[in-house]
Amino acid sequence: MAEGALEEAAAVQGMFSRIAGRYDLANALLSGGMDWFWRRRAARVVRGWGPARLLDLATGSGVLAGTLQRWNPGTVIVGADFCLPMLRQAQKTGRLKQMVVADAMSLPFADGSFDAVTVAFGLRNMPSYRGALREVRRVLQPGGHLLVLDFSVPEGWWRGAYRVYLHRCLPKIAAALSGERNAYEYLAESIESFPRGEGMLRLLAGAGFAAGKAERLSGGIVSLYTAESAGRTAAVIPSR
Ligand SMILES: C[S@@+](CC[C@H](N)C(=O)[O-])C[C@H]1O[C@@H](n2cnc3c(N)ncnc32)[C@H](O)[C@@H]1O
Repeated sequence: MAEGALEEAAAVQGMFSRIAGRYDLANALLSGGMDWFWRRRAARVVRGWGPARLLDLATGSGVLAGTLQRWNPGTVIVGADFCLPMLRQAQKTGRLKQMVVADAMSLPFADGSFDAVTVAFGLRNMPSYRGALREVRRVLQPGGHLLVLDFSVPEGWWRGAYRVYLHRCLPKIAAALSGERNAYEYLAESIESFPRGEGMLRLLAGAGFAAGKAERLSGGIVSLYTAESAGRTAAVIPSR
C-alpha cells in the first residue's frame, strides 16, 4: 500500500477505535433508528441467496452480522474488521460467533472461501475501493454474491435539506454523542465522494462483478447494491 493510503487507513482505524464504545448508540440516534430497516432489508436479500458461508467485511460492532444471523440461522457468518476495539464490542454483545482481525485490503482467507460477502458502511472508508473489491472477489466463490450497503445522496427536492443536515447538523450532534466531531465531518465528506447509483454499478462491473443492481432506501439516503462475482477472468478496473 502507498504511504498516503497507509496513513489514511491508520487514521480510519484510530477514529473507529476512539468511538467504538459509543458507535451503536450514535449510529441508531443519527439515523433516527432507520438503520434497523436498512439492515433488515439487507438480511432479507441475503436470505434469498441462502449462503452456507458468509463474510461480513468491516463488521465493526457486528450489528449487521447479528441481523444477518437472525434471518439466516443456517449460515456460518464470519466477521472481519481491522479495528480491535470495534470487534470487542461485537464480542461483548455476542452478535458474532466467529470474528477475525483483518484488513480488507489483504484478507487472510483462501480463494473462494465464501458464498457471499456483505459490507455495510465500510467500503467507503477503505483506501482503495477497487483494491478492496478485488480482495472480495478473490475470497468469493465464482458466482458468489456481494452486498454493499452504504450512504448515498438523495435525488430531488430534499437533497438540499439533507446536505444541510449532513454537513452542519450531524457533526455537531455526533460530537455531543461521541466526543469526536472530526469523525463525523469525515463522514459527510466521505459520503459526498463515494460512488453512488450508476457510478457504483460501473465500479462493481469494472472490478469483475456481474448482474449489479442498486436499490435506494429511505429516499436515497442509503443504497443497497448487489452483484455476483463473475469468476476470475481479468477485468478492466476504473480508477477510484
Ligand atoms: C461505519 S463502521 C460499519 C460497521 C458495521 N458494518 C455496521 O454496519 O455498523 C465501518 C467499519 O469499517 C472498518 N474498516 C474500515 N476500513 C477497513 C479496512 N481496510 N479493513 C477492515 N475494516 C475496515 C472500521 O474499522 C469500522 O469498524
